[in-house]
Amino acid sequence: MNRTNQGGLAPIDPASIPKRMLNTGAEMPAIGLGTFGSDHVTPAQVAEAVLGAAAAGYRHFDCASIYGNEPEVGASLEVILAGGVKREQLWVTSKLWNDKHSEDDVIASCRKSLADLRLDYLDLYLVHWPFPNFHPPGCDVTSRSADSKPYIHESFMKTWRKMEELVDLGLVRHIGTSNMTIPKLKLLLRDARIKPAVNEMELHPHFQQPELFKFVVDNGIRPIGYSPIGSPGRPERDRTPEDTSPTEDPVIVAIAERHGIHPAVVCIKWAVQHGQTPIPFSINNYRANVAGVAGDPLSDDEMREIAAIDRNCRLIKGQVFLWKDGQTWEDLWDIHGTITPP
Ligand SMILES: NC(=O)c1ccc[n+]([C@@H]2O[C@H](COP(=O)([O-])OP(=O)(O)OC[C@H]3O[C@@H](n4cnc5c(N)ncnc54)[C@H](OP(=O)(O)O)[C@@H]3O)[C@@H](O)[C@H]2O)c1
Repeated sequence: MNRTNQGGLAPIDPASIPKRMLNTGAEMPAIGLGTFGSDHVTPAQVAEAVLGAAAAGYRHFDCASIYGNEPEVGASLEVILAGGVKREQLWVTSKLWNDKHSEDDVIASCRKSLADLRLDYLDLYLVHWPFPNFHPPGCDVTSRSADSKPYIHESFMKTWRKMEELVDLGLVRHIGTSNMTIPKLKLLLRDARIKPAVNEMELHPHFQQPELFKFVVDNGIRPIGYSPIGSPGRPERDRTPEDTSPTEDPVIVAIAERHGIHPAVVCIKWAVQHGQTPIPFSINNYRANVAGVAGDPLSDDEMREIAAIDRNCRLIKGQVFLWKDGQTWEDLWDIHGTITPP
């Protein structure tokens, strides 16, 4: 195989890509292009990939202000729209960063993303993390906000009320969460006027999160799966010696060989067939990923084999969001079923 697996792949008809119906009846394409350059892919490279991906058949783009490239991505979106794709055929997500949770900042931050992306509305706007703790791009694993805070539901609801207002204002069509846990979502579902339409969460064959996955689906929330390939290019702060790589798993490698595709594409096929919406990042291989979704499915046996290789291996642990000394990253994820006390 050459350095990339783009070559020779024809564009995919966007109509042939499965869709996920959300709680409003709107339909979201079941694969999107991630746009986080992991602190080493430049905004210009990401913007070029957005253009190339649209030509390859993608209509869904997962953006965020913290990715530091919304102006460049916006320039590409403008070209895509000028080229004849209609706005209603695109699905564009952006996210509220952690230093903008205060009531005065939510609407202004969304308007800034809209201006940068050159759009009148977003299809989806997410609260990027449930913690108001800021870390700057490129920081290392020891970085902490000076005034770090735990999850405080009353504070989160103030942010959420502003998210709801964004829907009322017509600036966003759907709102959702990211990096939430079951106990936090239970409180939000109890108190929200507009319920989250999606939860964006880490999902790949080595981190299948079956309990959270079932909870969100049972509650009418669509799971969007980030780092679906196991984020091989993730920043140094998100690497530990225990991490495993789904694309090197012998089960994934064997399935890839059987189908004549890259192991990364097996991860993407699995994700779509399993029911989440993967948002793989790629500047070199996005064609193979969308072609994989439109191509022959994995067999039921292959799906069962992949179900059996879950290693509960979280890669994006989020240490930089911890709020006090002496904690471990598990404290962010409420692993005992209750919200970790302040
Ligand atoms: N909500 C959140 O907190 C959150 C957190 C993390 C990520 N995200 C979102 O999820 C997106 C994806 O996650 P990610 O960027 O962490 O990781 P990922 O999508 O699992 O992995 C991306 C890496 O896989 C490579 N790759 C992609 N397709 C490939 C293929 N077919 N063959 C070989 N290599 C392939 C890419 O290299 P090439 O570029 O060379 O193809 C890139 O290095 C992000 O971009 C972002 O939009 C959200």
